Amino acid sequence: MTTPSTQLGRPVNRVDGRAKVTGEARYAGEFNVPGLLYGQVVSSTIARGRIKSIDASEALRLPGVLRVFTHENRPSLPWFDRKYRDDDAPSGSPFRPLHNDKVVYSGQPVALVVAETFELARHAASLVRIEYKPDSHETDLRAQRKKAYAPRQGKDGFEPPPKPWGHADKALDKAAVKVDAEYETPVEHHNPMEPHASTVIHEDDGTLTIYDKTQGVLNSQTYVCNVFDLPKEQVRVRSPFVGGAFGSGLRPQYQLFLAVLAARELKRSVRVTLTREQMFTFGHRPATLQRVALGASADGTLEALIHEAVSETSSFEDYIEVLVNWGSMLYRCDNVRADYKVAALDCYTPIDMRAPGAAIGVYALESAMDELAHALRMDPIALRLKNYSERDQNKDKPYSSKELRACYQQGAERFGWARRNPEPRSMREGHELVGWGMATGIWDAMQQPASAKAVLGLDGRLVVSSATADIGTGTYTVMTQIAADTLGLPIESVTFKLGDSSLPMAPLEGGSWTVASVGSAVKEACEKLREQLVTFARKTKGSPLAGVGAEEVVFAEGQLRNASDPSRAVSIVEAMRLGGVTHLEEQTSAVPSPKQQAYTRCVHSAVFAEVKVDEALGTVRVTRVVSAVAGGRVLNPKTARSQVMGGVVWGISMALHEETALDHTLGRFMNHNYAEYHVPVNADVRDIDVIFVDEDDTVVNPLGAKGLGEIGIVGVAAAVANAVFHATGRRVRGLPITLDKLL
Ligand code: MOS
Repeated sequence: MTTPSTQLGRPVNRVDGRAKVTGEARYAGEFNVPGLLYGQVVSSTIARGRIKSIDASEALRLPGVLRVFTHENRPSLPWFDRKYRDDDAPSGSPFRPLHNDKVVYSGQPVALVVAETFELARHAASLVRIEYKPDSHETDLRAQRKKAYAPRQGKDGFEPPPKPWGHADKALDKAAVKVDAEYETPVEHHNPMEPHASTVIHEDDGTLTIYDKTQGVLNSQTYVCNVFDLPKEQVRVRSPFVGGAFGSGLRPQYQLFLAVLAARELKRSVRVTLTREQMFTFGHRPATLQRVALGASADGTLEALIHEAVSETSSFEDYIEVLVNWGSMLYRCDNVRADYKVAALDCYTPIDMRAPGAAIGVYALESAMDELAHALRMDPIALRLKNYSERDQNKDKPYSSKELRACYQQGAERFGWARRNPEPRSMREGHELVGWGMATGIWDAMQQPASAKAVLGLDGRLVVSSATADIGTGTYTVMTQIAADTLGLPIESVTFKLGDSSLPMAPLEGGSWTVASVGSAVKEACEKLREQLVTFARKTKGSPLAGVGAEEVVFAEGQLRNASDPSRAVSIVEAMRLGGVTHLEEQTSAVPSPKQQAYTRCVHSAVFAEVKVDEALGTVRVTRVVSAVAGGRVLNPKTARSQVMGGVVWGISMALHEETALDHTLGRFMNHNYAEYHVPVNADVRDIDVIFVDEDDTVVNPLGAKGLGEIGIVGVAAAVANAVFHATGRRVRGLPITLDKLL
């Protein structure tokens, strides 16, 4: 019963594209009901200390202002005594808004003003007078580095650093050629187009329908139920469209808590939307300091690999990232030592941001590899091929597939790498220095348990659903393709539903695991429908397929056909009639196959970048990027390419633009707006070329597809930094590479 694939591998347009561009697709802050109230958050102005007094009288005097919630008047909640942690919470004790008078970070929500209009709430919030008793705070990672400690491991699926092997420090000492350098990466904040918002619709019976900006409706639902002690039946969370998230929507954010609190206390529907400035108050990519030391023999054999990193966390949770594990996965080396610590700052707990850990860990690693290649007078690709690892040494396991060699080869060819003069400052165009750099990318190819339901109607329509999310990545489209493909239906006959806690269980939409996880469940549910239809068609007397072997039946163009005699066919609807059913329904859970355990499963890439640096001004432009990705089977080359391109743009952003600046005197992020938090504009993004190399993987999941949401960013910042070195001869070891660092 193998049906040739008709939908997978096709560049199908986004099925939600029209809704997105016409504004029909609504975000969490765009669902309206009559009588909706608006909440505005008041944020703390100190980083640490206590609230001495809150005077809300002036705000409350305004007609239309209903309530100002603070720690003094908030209801008592079970959560304040019992510690519930959401699905993405690191070890520690989660921040609980309005819990008490303690301030633990600047920008902490300390009051919620609820009013009849948005403008009124916003104005009233400016009238709330708060007096603080400040304590001294520490927000400088360098200063706190000496107090760094090994974090408590908390999150599932996040690997601790590998145990050391060999004698890395001794081998480094003895190595013929070595680099030993420190790299620094700054705080970066999520700046999706859609700010975080929650609209809580309160029904008379106390039932809540919540439109929340989230990557996991079930995580938000479980959070609300635990925090407010509500049964699941009373809380439905929906998130049909998400205007960008990439980690910021993995944890329920404080606007959800505050909106639900206000709705329950006032017995009214309430929306809380964060301002752009407040988008800088609930988690960020952590600042890191990373030492990478590499030793090699004269022929380029890697003899020592040391990666030590410290990243920031908050005073209340141990946020961890996988920073130091990648080197010994990518490169064979007999002497390896990795070390990872966190240092607590008086800032909010960091949060995942696209390829958390790898984006910045691989930046340091791949910069150091470039430094080593230069020291060895060896081509950067040749050095990587010389030390290419066929096995993951961290776990001593083979890779389920690894076509990274093809990435190097095809990427180099497309880029024209062979024409590179290895000498720094050797390429020039007018007043600009030209540099070519490359780097490797790696990310996990994970699968999580997930469920899906498939319902086929007599109208020939297939509706498939799962409580997953589409953060702009293409989930709607690819799931539709998988379902259509499995049943041989046209795309137009299939509807995929997501973003609703009443749908079958799906994991958080993150980690690049959604296609592997939810896609496998969609496939299984549709295969079960297929089995039923085949049974109807084969076992019913008078059916054109009566008596045909099950393995002889193929699905194509809405029909079940005899593979060897396609004239013997019934439509899917006829098959249902033969079976005497008015609809067919299957719900399944797909779990990772145990055979995965024997392998390390990763997606790889090779990234090539060209920069042009104005010698007089120090300005850097990235004029060309080629990203060659080995990501298993590509289900939709159009959405896949978009994912990688988006990742490359973000990588350029990391390399040249993004940085949240802390004022350590105030303990506060200062550039919390689009004017001063720099992201690339169209003029900063030139040619991006994406290659998908062939990669066959029968282990990762039944689809053979590896997630592509995160790999696009990994390696880009290093490729750009390496190109800047090649152009200028200057090695900048801190991101972003701004012009002051080049002059
Ligand atoms: Mo991703 S940072 O797991 O949304």
